[in-house]
Amino acid sequence: RTDPLVLGIETSCDETGIGIVRGTTLLSNTIASSMDEHARYGGVVPEVAARAHLEEMVPAIHAALAEAGVGLNEIDAIAVTSGPGLAGALMVGVGAAKSLAVALDVPIYAVNHLVGHVGADLLRGEGVTTDAPLEYPTIALLVSGGHTSLLLVRDLVSDVELLGETIDDAAGEAFDKVARVLGLPYPGGPQIDRVAATGDPTAIRFPRGLSHQKDVAKHRYDFSFSGLKTSVARWVEQKGDAGETVPIDDVAASFREAVVDVLLTKAVAACTDLGVPRLLLGGGVIANARLRQVAQERTCAAGIALRIPPLSLCTDNGAMIAALGAQLIMAGHEPSTLDFGADSTLPV
Ligand code: KG4
Ligand code: ZN
Repeated sequence: RTDPLVLGIETSCDETGIGIVRGTTLLSNTIASSMDEHARYGGVVPEVAARAHLEEMVPAIHAALAEAGVGLNEIDAIAVTSGPGLAGALMVGVGAAKSLAVALDVPIYAVNHLVGHVGADLLRGEGVTTDAPLEYPTIALLVSGGHTSLLLVRDLVSDVELLGETIDDAAGEAFDKVARVLGLPYPGGPQIDRVAATGDPTAIRFPRGLSHQKDVAKHRYDFSFSGLKTSVARWVEQKGDAGETVPIDDVAASFREAVVDVLLTKAVAACTDLGVPRLLLGGGVIANARLRQVAQERTCAAGIALRIPPLSLCTDNGAMIAALGAQLIMAGHEPSTLDFGADSTLPV
């Protein structure tokens, strides 16, 4: 059927995201974040996130319906993130989605969070760039506090392949941990970005994870950021021990450069190796100013078309989940049966 009205629920991490779409038209995108509650711990606390989802769920659904100007009885289907993500957090979204589907007697679609990030690019509406439609195949680089993955998307609803992912920390997590080392508050990404603006990105040569020839053979499209984080911590510690002042802006700029360099080297390599002249970015780390700049430069030099959805659709949100659900419906996919569960390691 054409242009179904879909309500999407996203709770894989710390954002309670409720989105409503009609086909590819964005009607509302409500996000309640428990970020502030995690700040004093320096990272997302799963138990706290799950509890916050439970509290935010019903108000967020009401807010999304009001913003979209539709009633619950008009909803044609529910889409929900069933994984990957934090198990307890996912469970709240899955439970809410099933209850709604049963109460409204509408079909439910369990979807993959990472594929949802790609679906964000399909949405059109107020405040959303009216790019040409997403073309296939495309490479997607998804970078947030919870994941760092490279996907080959031949078709959003039937053919998505995971090329590689982080083998330890996510890139956003590395930003948060390094910010902590530098005495900057959580979330660290925006802080590092701010401080790095006046720093010299070539001041310190921090390691680029999994970029040596011996690693590339096995981990060509995989990432590693924990060695980088340790390297920054050691560098700062040694300066401190020597009684020297730490040039925070140079450290931030050099660290940011290392992350951005490795992310884009691998993403562009995937495009070139596989002959795919399109790169889509997604995830909260896409807010990074240097990442956007280098992405523009490198894709332009390599003849790759770069796509970056608006930031409100790059960070975790329910609209991208609804968009993917709508695509599944329009492609004639069967809905999920109610026996699916939250799967923290759900493959694409
Ligand atoms: O997608 P997102 O909102 O959701 C979670 O993963 O929870 O991403 C949040 C992550 C955090 O780790 C944050 O530090 C990072 O994205 N981030 C940034 C920037 N803004 C947010 N990282 C680098 N530069 C930024 N400007
Ligand atoms: Zn995400």
